[in-house]
Amino acid sequence: DVQPKATIVIFGATGDLAKRKLFPSIYKLYQKGKLAEQFAVVGVARRPHTDESFRSYVRETIEEATKQELIDDKFISHFYYHSLDATNTQSYEQLNELLTRVEEQFHIPGNRIFYLAMAPEFFGTITSHLKSEGLTATNGWTRLVIEKPFGHDLQSAQRLNEEIRQSFSEEQIFRIDHYLGKEMVQNIEVIRFANAIFEPLWNNRFIANIQITSSETLGVEDRGRYYDHSGALRDMVQNHMLQMVALLAMEPPIKLTTDDIRSEKVKVLRALRPMTHDDVETYFVRGQYGRGIVRGQQVVGYREEHSVDPNSNTETFVAGKLMIDNFRWAGVPFYIRTGKRMTEKSTKIVVQFKDVPMNLYYRTSEHVHPNLLVIHIQPDEGITLHLNAKKSGESMKTTPIKLDYCNNCIDGINTPEAYEKLLYDCMRGDATNFTHWDEVAASWSFVDPISEVWANTKAVDFPNYEAGSMGPKKADELLQKDGFHWWPLNGTI
Ligand code: BG6
Repeated sequence: DVQPKATIVIFGATGDLAKRKLFPSIYKLYQKGKLAEQFAVVGVARRPHTDESFRSYVRETIEEATKQELIDDKFISHFYYHSLDATNTQSYEQLNELLTRVEEQFHIPGNRIFYLAMAPEFFGTITSHLKSEGLTATNGWTRLVIEKPFGHDLQSAQRLNEEIRQSFSEEQIFRIDHYLGKEMVQNIEVIRFANAIFEPLWNNRFIANIQITSSETLGVEDRGRYYDHSGALRDMVQNHMLQMVALLAMEPPIKLTTDDIRSEKVKVLRALRPMTHDDVETYFVRGQYGRGIVRGQQVVGYREEHSVDPNSNTETFVAGKLMIDNFRWAGVPFYIRTGKRMTEKSTKIVVQFKDVPMNLYYRTSEHVHPNLLVIHIQPDEGITLHLNAKKSGESMKTTPIKLDYCNNCIDGINTPEAYEKLLYDCMRGDATNFTHWDEVAASWSFVDPISEVWANTKAVDFPNYEAGSMGPKKADELLQKDGFHWWPLNGTI
């Protein structure tokens, strides 16, 4: 393993993401020996902290997240803090002095990651100051990591991108989509391109449809303010769901380089059939949860959540039928579905193959089960292949059987968290699992017409699904119209 030498400067260091994901990930990398002695973390936020009080805070958050006592004082001594006034030039100069001091102390060759774990309204101000105050002019490399939301639509994303590009080049920008750091999302490519048996069938001649579900049991928690302006389409579809579609549908890249993979993904996103006003009504379903029972707990409806407009028109559920207009996929529906307050927390991909040309077993078996390839993204990680076999003891009756591989059941394998992998990738300069601007732009271009239609028409039936259910009935009808149904996620597949 490479041990990258760098300083990670986290803006928004007292926020939720740093606490829940970034500090614990840095600690895990350290524990695994992936961080050398030559690393430092500089927390930046508005709130005052001394290095000491920040270190105690980091220690507590890591202990809480990893449920272990963090005894390693040496690790924590790599943490520093700077209280920043984002619009004050002097404040950046002081930060630069701190960084130079820390680099000298730990012999870090000027490599800096600026991680903006905060609301995007400050991205432009911060990045331009980083450049104008010389924080990006080092002897080493500098990289910028940004979190979603990357814009609200194509236009605002473009504006944001232009602002950032004044100070950082595309190669320096690492846009996080944490789904790309998930083990089984990364596995899609390997399953497809390292096996001889799938790729010949991976097209419209043999695949009937592909279903991607990402369901959550959580509601909007304390993110009502953000979420009520975003909704499930922007929050989950524009990024995570479309990224999974792209990985499932892309052509084999020439090589596994960042550019080759990203350019194949962009082609898929550009081939998505654009939605007209009528298409949105026919092929997209929006939902909003009302009260209900989720995992045995009574919960409030979306409109009763904190910081949510009591008449909100925001969707907490989306289902859609996507068509990819290219040779490989013409005619194959990709059904996507995601929502909050659903029955269970689960992300699964089901590839449903076409039926055999005729049922030779019609005397004993009315239906022959279609072959399915299920990719379990979370919480269980693995692959299941559904085949048909002879039912034991009965004359030529078929029965579906499953070939199962469970990734996170293997003893001693503790799948690294997405953020741990992505941070490490960024430190090594591998941008493959980050989204290129072209992907962001193509995704917004697809999503914008849908959100426009929804913004202009009131969802009169909201709330239209009960918390704890699998979403509104219309989402089932979407597939029924094509003669399909959602494969149930409750353990049967
Ligand atoms: C985030 C969304 O990007 O993804 C959240 O903003 C959502 O609303 C989360 O809950 C889901 O991620 P995961 O990894 O829990 O499936």
